[in-house]
Amino acid sequence: MRSKLIEKFGELETPFYYYDLDALEENLKALHAAYSKRGYEVHYAMKANVNDGVLSAIQKKGLGADCVSGNEVKKAIEIGFSKNDIVFAGVGKTDKEINYALNEDIFCFNVESTAELNVINDLAYAQGKEARVALRLNPNISANTHAYITTGLEDNKFGINFWELEQAIELLNDSSNLKLEGIHFHIGSQITDLSSFKNLCNKVNEIQQWFFDHNIEVDHVNVGGGLGIDYHQPDEQAIPDYESYFGLFEEFIELRPNQKLHFELGRSIVGQMGSLITRVTYIKKGISTNFAILDAGMTELIRPALYQSHHVIQNISKAHRDDLPLEKYDVVGPICESSDSFGKAILLPETERGDLIAIRSAGAYAEVMASSYNLREKAQVFFG
Ligand code: LLP
Repeated sequence: MRSKLIEKFGELETPFYYYDLDALEENLKALHAAYSKRGYEVHYAMKANVNDGVLSAIQKKGLGADCVSGNEVKKAIEIGFSKNDIVFAGVGKTDKEINYALNEDIFCFNVESTAELNVINDLAYAQGKEARVALRLNPNISANTHAYITTGLEDNKFGINFWELEQAIELLNDSSNLKLEGIHFHIGSQITDLSSFKNLCNKVNEIQQWFFDHNIEVDHVNVGGGLGIDYHQPDEQAIPDYESYFGLFEEFIELRPNQKLHFELGRSIVGQMGSLITRVTYIKKGISTNFAILDAGMTELIRPALYQSHHVIQNISKAHRDDLPLEKYDVVGPICESSDSFGKAILLPETERGDLIAIRSAGAYAEVMASSYNLREKAQVFFG
């Protein structure tokens, strides 16, 4: 973080989200260089961050949008994403949401069950339209990540299981208002072990063979998102290794002639450009550690409480004070829950009331998951 900005932070009311749009731009450049030369398409997974400034920067780079609610579809259109590049996933799309997306003629519905196929067909019939659909298939593959963000195992609620595929195809054949455009997969999020994606490629190849054997052609294969970021080294690893990621798909996935490969990345694009900036309200002496009580809590960043996730915590007021002793702090929020903690026994330069603290890697799944629990006000956003 640049020191001039840190000086400016002193005047701002905390807590707030700080989004570094230059860092986002750098990330997008690297992303674009890695996917465009391979002819791939990337839809930004809007669920990660729907801030207008962030969305506009991403839209300007020519990415599509991956949405999981009618409101996300609406937002994507308002921001200027091309309707032809909007995909709509989700296990529980309501009639209202489907009707809205049909009316807007979005590129594709990623359909998660046979029941949903029936509903989309009926609603498309009523609108006199043909709905473009991709079947979201559950590949039954481990993503080696936290259980709450694992989506590609048979006991997860997502996607159509392989044993239901034949029935789904029959349904599609009988549905005059559905057009099968693709197959879709998403195995989970914050995946740092790339071998999970290699396993996905192998599974996709098997499934593609099944489609080929049944004389079914699809125009695109969408392998979802999930590429993880380095929460331990946000500065050293600010931009994920997109070359290795897309290179792996290039090496292992077998596409049919003219078939397009699509991705839905969220966290890897926006995660590292954001920090949650907060102030120490109190220091409280504990038995084996001290508590640094912040004015931000799980209401602004729920990830540590929900997934026991790690975020680097820095005392930016004391960033250059090498003379201060390092002390251990349990860094906690003001919310009336013991889970409202950002980290235990964190080493910080001796910290006092009023110090500014940066909780790093908060560009993805922070502001979007904020709540008003305890009647908290919504934190503002500032750009750098
Ligand atoms: N596509 C689908 C169908 C998804 O469900 C998701 C994320 C993505 C793409 C984007 O995944 P990404 O590239 O961002 O990993 N709140 C959790 C993460 C939940 C992810 C949900 N689905 C967290 O804070 O870790």
